[in-house]
Amino acid sequence: MTATAGSATSAQEIANAFARQSVVNLTSELHSAIDQALPSLEAQLKGGAGGSAADPTSVRAAIASLQTLRSTPSPTMSVQTKAQKPSGPSSPRTKLSIAAGLIAELVLGIGAAFGAQALDPRLRREEQLRQRYRLPVLARVPREPRPRTDKPLSPVALSPVTLEAYRTLRGTLTARRRAAGADSGMILVTGSSPSEGKTTTAVNLASTLAIAGTRVILIEADLRRPAIGSALNLRAEYGVASVLLESVPLENALVPVPGLDSNLRVLLANYEGGWISELFSLPTTQNLVAEARELADYVILDTPPLADVVDALPLAEQADDVVVVARIGKTHLKKLDQLGELLADNGIKPAGIVLIGTPRPGRSSYGYYLGNRAPEGGREVIRSGAPRGGKRTAF
Ligand SMILES: Nc1ncnc2c1ncn2[C@@H]1O[C@H](COP(=O)(O)OP(=O)(O)OP(=O)(O)O)[C@@H](O)[C@H]1O
Ligand SMILES: [Mg+2]
Repeated sequence: MTATAGSATSAQEIANAFARQSVVNLTSELHSAIDQALPSLEAQLKGGAGGSAADPTSVRAAIASLQTLRSTPSPTMSVQTKAQKPSGPSSPRTKLSIAAGLIAELVLGIGAAFGAQALDPRLRREEQLRQRYRLPVLARVPREPRPRTDKPLSPVALSPVTLEAYRTLRGTLTARRRAAGADSGMILVTGSSPSEGKTTTAVNLASTLAIAGTRVILIEADLRRPAIGSALNLRAEYGVASVLLESVPLENALVPVPGLDSNLRVLLANYEGGWISELFSLPTTQNLVAEARELADYVILDTPPLADVVDALPLAEQADDVVVVARIGKTHLKKLDQLGELLADNGIKPAGIVLIGTPRPGRSSYGYYLGNRAPEGGREVIRSGAPRGGKRTAF
């Protein structure tokens, strides 16, 4: 028997009182039953049906045993052991409660994560790109294990395998340009969501093109979240707005990057003001593009996620190639679909996808090569055809 109370003493007293009272109740029920039976037996005895007291079945013997029972407590129930005072509270059971709470939270959390993933799935595997889009994967950029910064990663911060991936991207894109009969071009880097690695891709593509001996201008066309200046430790007197709004010659606004190849020069976004989305719609944008093409072999444009902000759309229309950055674990597939539709609506067919965050290749140099090199002279094409399980969108 257990009793629950606010204190150990009360719980002990309740348990003992209950046991005591249960015995009293049962004894009293027994005694009243005997009291009811005795008069009729005594009447039988008076009527001469007593029999011998030695005969256990006689009326006299029955009366004798009932009278004995009547004078004692019920033999069917007694208190054998009294309740002990408990040494500590039995509830709340803090550890158990915390464990149960954590498990419940975990279950709910996992459920919510599955729910979110089902409603708004993210890119998890390259295979999903194959199923949805008819675009080549231009390069697979491995996940850097421990970036020491939340800024875009400059070439000096990247590991050899990741630098190799950007060399692959250079090879793939220059091969495309050569196939179009050109040794130069304007390449715009965009994506569908924030923090996918667009700026890192633009900076490293520009740097690797410069190392290969071509003159490169990197234009920071993300006016809302400019990050190239702080990532490369650059300062400039003039920037995009100076050229577009104040007629500063592009040549005067370009800055070299200390520590990187001198073939690379950068036009930073030094813009503070309203009506951002209109800035690249100004006629002076055409002049900027024309000047940049004259001063460099390759012009690389770093832009915001076009599916979110369309600021750089006029630039995308003028670019020779548009590169879409998608990142495993980050890119939302719906946003990527939206970007595909936006570009298709504006008559833009991207050159392909740069996939960021792929698993790092193994140690063997052979696996290392296979993990990053695209076959067919640097051009790997995701075959078009019937979708395998997924739907195709506008890309
Ligand atoms: N290959 C990589 N492995 C691990 N981290 C990376 C890799 N590439 C970029 N990052 C990190 O991802 C974050 C976003 O990178 P980056 O600024 O280049 O993205 P973004 O798409 O330009 O972002 P935004 O939308 O803000 O312009 C940074 O913290 C950067 O250090
Ligand atoms: Mg960026």
